Amino acid sequence: MAPPIRFSQLSQRTGDPPISYFMRQAVENPNLISLAAGLVDMETLPVEEMRASLDALLTAPDRAQKALQYGTTQGLLELRQALLRHLCRLEHCTPMELNLTADDVVITTGSQQLLYILSEALLDPGDVVITAAPSYFVYHGVLQSLGARVLGVSGDEQGLNTQELEKLLARLTPSELSRLKVIYVVSYYENPTGAILSVPRRQHLLELVQRYSTEHRILVVEDAAYRELRYEGEDWPSIKRFDPNNEFVALIMTFSKPWAPGIKIGYGFLPRDLMPAVLRIKGNHDFGSANLVQHAMLEMLESGAYARHVQQLVAHYRRKRDVLLEALAEFLPPSWGITWWRPRGGLYVWVVGPKTFDTGPSGPLLQRAIQEGVLYVPGEFCYPPGMQHVPRHEMRLSFGLAKIDELREGVRRLARALAHCI
Ligand SMILES: Cc1ncc(COP(=O)(O)O)c(C=O)c1O
Repeated sequence: MAPPIRFSQLSQRTGDPPISYFMRQAVENPNLISLAAGLVDMETLPVEEMRASLDALLTAPDRAQKALQYGTTQGLLELRQALLRHLCRLEHCTPMELNLTADDVVITTGSQQLLYILSEALLDPGDVVITAAPSYFVYHGVLQSLGARVLGVSGDEQGLNTQELEKLLARLTPSELSRLKVIYVVSYYENPTGAILSVPRRQHLLELVQRYSTEHRILVVEDAAYRELRYEGEDWPSIKRFDPNNEFVALIMTFSKPWAPGIKIGYGFLPRDLMPAVLRIKGNHDFGSANLVQHAMLEMLESGAYARHVQQLVAHYRRKRDVLLEALAEFLPPSWGITWWRPRGGLYVWVVGPKTFDTGPSGPLLQRAIQEGVLYVPGEFCYPPGMQHVPRHEMRLSFGLAKIDELREGVRRLARALAHCI
């Protein structure tokens, strides 16, 4: 027999993503209603728009040839220009007010790739990253894989608690501070809690990174994946908006949620001196994301199809959110002591049980829920790796994938499982 493969340290640090268990369950049990999957609603996917755009692209030979050739590492210039205009529309400002040009925009294979590349560009094993606890667990996996030390800061419905962050920063030793490189924040309708970071906290966060960036710059990685899925309330300015010199914030966005994950196009607005390192590393990864879909996305933005689609999507998901929230109120009696946060956007509802609850993978509730035919994400999966005293009484529900009538039935099944375990 051949001797064993000797894997790299990075490979050994890289754990199985916890979510793969749920993907498997969903595939193996077709009758299961998944309130776990963070996937978008199949019915909303812009099939017709994509077909028309690809048709138009591929029937014009010169455009087709350009789109089918390799593109550039940074991404199609016209699309980068359109993305900057798109951001400025969201922010109600000019590119100059953000100190951004198309040279500060990079297009990646999903925002996940940009999160990965930024982390590779900034982090050595042992470097420190601060995130909200709980937060987007796939990024926690990246950080663990790269050997970063992740420190969690608690949050509430206003997002990451910057008072707590300030206390944590004050407690760090000079050697820890010298290794603090990144503060990662999902600034709109956080995955998993649905929280939106309040404007005073956005300002406070920026003030803190500026204050603590003495020897080196501490960067805010602002993940705005869900920004455009806004169902109520104002569209608050990004954290980037409070960084007028474009120095402290790398803003990351994606078309996966507001358009289609299948095109896997993400993009970022980066401080100017961060871009060259990101492009060198992206050059090694793939020297450019799929060119054909970049051309198609450009057309969607220019023709207005994208804006129209987002409008319809928002109405659809708002309705689904309301159905889920109404079902929770209907099926979970107040005497159970279970509460939930009302998200103003995004795809998730964060449910908090009494402290005695165990929603975890080895607890009775999850097994019972699967028997009843419903799946949720145990809250403990969403806490940073290595954190002590991880709460086990929370869960993430998503109204993304399940159909409207399945949402109500899913909550009914969940209530049956809960009733059994209470
Ligand atoms: C908060 C957050 N950031 C980033 C991503 C990555 O998405 P993509 O790589 O498809 O753009 C996701 C996907 O679920 C997410 O929830």
